[in-house]
Amino acid sequence: MERLTLTRPDDWHVHLRDGPILAAVVPETARRFARAIVMPNLKPPVATVAQAAAYRQRILDAVPQGVSFTPLMTLYLTDATSPAEIDAAVASGFIHGVKLYPAGATTHAEAGVTDLAKCRAVFARMEKLGLPLLVHGEVTDPEVDVFDREAVFIERRLAPLVRDFPGLKVVLEHVTTKEGVAFVEAMGPNVAATITPQHLLLNRNALFAGGLRPHHYCLPVLKREAHRQALLAAATSGNPKFFLGTDSAPHVKSTKEAACGCAGCYTAPAALELYAEAFAAAGALARLEGFASFHGADFYGLPRNTETVTLVRHAWQVPQMLAGLPNDPLVPFFAGQTLSWRLEAE
Ligand code: DOR
Ligand code: ZN
Repeated sequence: MERLTLTRPDDWHVHLRDGPILAAVVPETARRFARAIVMPNLKPPVATVAQAAAYRQRILDAVPQGVSFTPLMTLYLTDATSPAEIDAAVASGFIHGVKLYPAGATTHAEAGVTDLAKCRAVFARMEKLGLPLLVHGEVTDPEVDVFDREAVFIERRLAPLVRDFPGLKVVLEHVTTKEGVAFVEAMGPNVAATITPQHLLLNRNALFAGGLRPHHYCLPVLKREAHRQALLAAATSGNPKFFLGTDSAPHVKSTKEAACGCAGCYTAPAALELYAEAFAAAGALARLEGFASFHGADFYGLPRNTETVTLVRHAWQVPQMLAGLPNDPLVPFFAGQTLSWRLEAE
């Protein structure tokens, strides 16, 4: 196959940041995806409908002229979120999920939830109204090995939550383990997962290949090869519970290449192409469209897109660096590496 035309995809998990970084990264996502679920972990977090409305407008202002892109907004769940805010979120029409960060689990998660018991009334309202809960599925207990935090979260937190709120729509974001895949497969159609390109393409050896590789560091951290294989099998299975969510998470170079580097892979500048690489390697390019363009829209109850994009088999190099802040660029994931599928210019 030399060309692959698919329904224009959506990104069901992206970090667009704010200010100059927002302006730098939005065009990359908007070029590839018709819509994206935008993470609310700004500082301060996007915790109210009013904050989400203002952030949505800042994103729209950063979309290049002539490009159509719809940001799908989320609220940041805190111990103090009220059921009334959920009502307002649903009434807004532009909020499509509520993000659960266990407090301290990752970048800007300090304001996250300290105890799920504090959110029971909110979960009940979301279950009733059909608003999805988007879960960063890792425990924060420092005693738990960092490679086990997802599996432990599923056992201790997520399984009881789904049992208590059986109708709640839940997305296990950026699933990274075979335990996560098995959990999602075993639950009802209201439980789904997003999968990132980095977790499909790399295992944890990539963190240490020839030296410490900060641009391969994200949370949840890369896992063993057996887990990557389970993710690849899930993504290419055609199962509608699994869909594209890049978790593109830009941090400027100086904060990635540092003594204590930030977590996050900036995948947006090659997002669809990276997935194509992973699907092609698995001999499953024919399954890319369902994963990238149909399953997420169906889960969120949104119409499928009608436009198309085309990937052509043509080697190209991911740029070494892209504009970020004036003296601090963004280093994209796979910088300088060659990919075999390129997005055809519109
Ligand atoms: O690697 C990550 N980066 N994981 C997250 O959960 C957050 C994200 C970020 O915002 O940088
Ligand atoms: Zn994320």
